[in-house]
Amino acid sequence: MRTWLLLGLAIVPIWANEIFFPRDLPAPIAANDSTYTDCANAAWPPSDVGEELVPQAPDDELREMINEIDPERIKAIIAKLVSFGTRHTLSTQNSTTRGIGAARDWIASEMRKYAAESEGRMKVTVPGYVQGIANRISFPVLISNVLATVEGTTDPGRVYVITGHYDSRVTDVMNYEDDAPGANDDASGVAVSMELARIVATRKPRATMVFGAVAGEEQGLYGAAFLAQTYRNSSTNVEGMVSNDIIGSSTGDRGQREPYTIRLFAQGPPLTETTQRASQRLQIGGENDSPARELGRFAVEVAANDATEMNIAVIYRLDRFLRGGDHSAFLQQGYAAIRFTEPNENFDHQHQNIRVEDGTQYGDLPEFVDYEYVARVAKVNLVTFWSLANAPGKVQNVTVNASLLGNDSQFSWVKSDSTDVAGYELVWRSTTAPLWTHSLFVGNVGTVTVSLSKDNVIFGIRAVGINGYKSPATYPFPG
Ligand SMILES: *[C@@H]1O[C@H](CO)[C@@H](O)[C@H](O)[C@H]1NC(C)=O
Ligand SMILES: *[C@@H]1O[C@H](CO)[C@@H](O)[C@H](O)[C@H]1NC(C)=O
Ligand SMILES: *[C@@H]1O[C@H](CO)[C@@H](O)[C@H](O)[C@H]1NC(C)=O
Ligand SMILES: *[C@@H]1O[C@H](CO)[C@@H](O)[C@H](O)[C@H]1NC(C)=O
Ligand SMILES: *[C@@H]1O[C@H](CO)[C@@H](O)[C@H](O)[C@H]1NC(C)=O
Ligand SMILES: *[C@@H]1O[C@H](CO)[C@@H](O)[C@H](O)[C@H]1NC(C)=O
Ligand SMILES: [Zn+2]
Repeated sequence: MRTWLLLGLAIVPIWANEIFFPRDLPAPIAANDSTYTDCANAAWPPSDVGEELVPQAPDDELREMINEIDPERIKAIIAKLVSFGTRHTLSTQNSTTRGIGAARDWIASEMRKYAAESEGRMKVTVPGYVQGIANRISFPVLISNVLATVEGTTDPGRVYVITGHYDSRVTDVMNYEDDAPGANDDASGVAVSMELARIVATRKPRATMVFGAVAGEEQGLYGAAFLAQTYRNSSTNVEGMVSNDIIGSSTGDRGQREPYTIRLFAQGPPLTETTQRASQRLQIGGENDSPARELGRFAVEVAANDATEMNIAVIYRLDRFLRGGDHSAFLQQGYAAIRFTEPNENFDHQHQNIRVEDGTQYGDLPEFVDYEYVARVAKVNLVTFWSLANAPGKVQNVTVNASLLGNDSQFSWVKSDSTDVAGYELVWRSTTAPLWTHSLFVGNVGTVTVSLSKDNVIFGIRAVGINGYKSPATYPFPG
């Protein structure tokens, strides 16, 4: 029923805004290719420069790979990981059937089977270190990561990393004895790494792809921190990283189902930036254009489509409240890193002792995993990271000329000498739009001037490969 309020002499319905100022609904946060340029304000400023951005579609080879993702295999991987009883980081490492050591060895042996099909391109390693007594570590323990690395054919020094964590926990984070099935958190993420390793093993990505199962996440991201530091210490160019953590269920705690959406968490300004760069970023409105957000935009553009059947809901924050994840360890080393997590978590099935209380089943059990959903999340990962690894690398030293007042915008960057690069594309969006909405191919050049004011839109530059694959955009700073 309509309620009327008496304000002075005017009678105003409380729906006044709706009635007198009708406006379109805000754009949905979950974007896919049909809604791509529908975001609020995307049409302003009016301009005839460039064209509406058409998202890159998967090619035949990628579609063939997508079709190889198998929910039955994912189910078998998760069942096997659950069968080790507990995979707590402090659990036994000298049994072949129980504990984290057995889980590590099984993951490595499966990865080696995939590598056997790779004609030497895929190498499986199990780098580890002994973590001394520390927060949530009550005695010195060997923490090991299992890595399947497929070396890139033309640009092996450029690396993309996909991880899930194979350790698990119950209610008490220090309890390493009781069964901690961790079917969703995070056997589901490990299953994505393993299934993608199997499929990519027989293919030839241009840049290097790493499929990892890391440990120590629940105790404090120890395995991922070790991995990220190893890459940083060897000056490895990790151009993108994703942690798949709790990607196993499409059903929330009220029974609500969202089987065709995955959340993508992407942090704003990098903590590793100099204070000078951070204040420049704030001054020019670059807060929403961190490398992690550009990676998130890239994922939405290439992977939210009919090939994956998924929408990607980008969340502008590092992670959920009170939670953390392995992507943080990579962000701390200055790498662009994001996190995938299911849309509606059910906390009865995370970090819980297995028990029935008042008729409610608690515990992270396989019966609460939706394997078809995990398979679709695997598709999103495959399309995103295959597209990254086959595109040119991010454009380097991108600058916008801010030396004089003007209506035009001039950009410069380092033109690649790689014969894989066909040229460069300028992309832009209005400052309030979440995704790139417009593009202009500018040719194989190192500078361009466009008659569109840099005061009114946000620009990015990306490289276009001769194979049509495009890199994520780089945000230009004045230079
Ligand atoms: C894309 O999003 C629109 C609007 O949210 C929705 O109606 C449509 O079904 C989605 N398409 C796919 C393939 O999910
Ligand atoms: C197995 O490992 C535990 C520590 O995790 C150790 O205390 C025990 O002695 C080991 N048992 C054997 C048979 O090596
Ligand atoms: C990386 O280098 C730092 C500084 O030298 C060192 O403290 C750290 O142990 C190294 N980490 C790894 C994983 O190599
Ligand atoms: C690109 O930028 C880096 C860091 O600012 C600088 O060291 C390098 O010389 C630049 N390269 C070119 C070709 O301008
Ligand atoms: C920046 O633009 C001004 C004015 O058009 C021009 O004089 C200057 O050479 C440009 N700077 C660079 C580095 O291209
Ligand atoms: C900007 O554009 C307006 C109208 O198009 C023109 O009058 C003005 O001179 C331009 N300013 C500069 C600095 O180019
Ligand atoms: Zn987790």
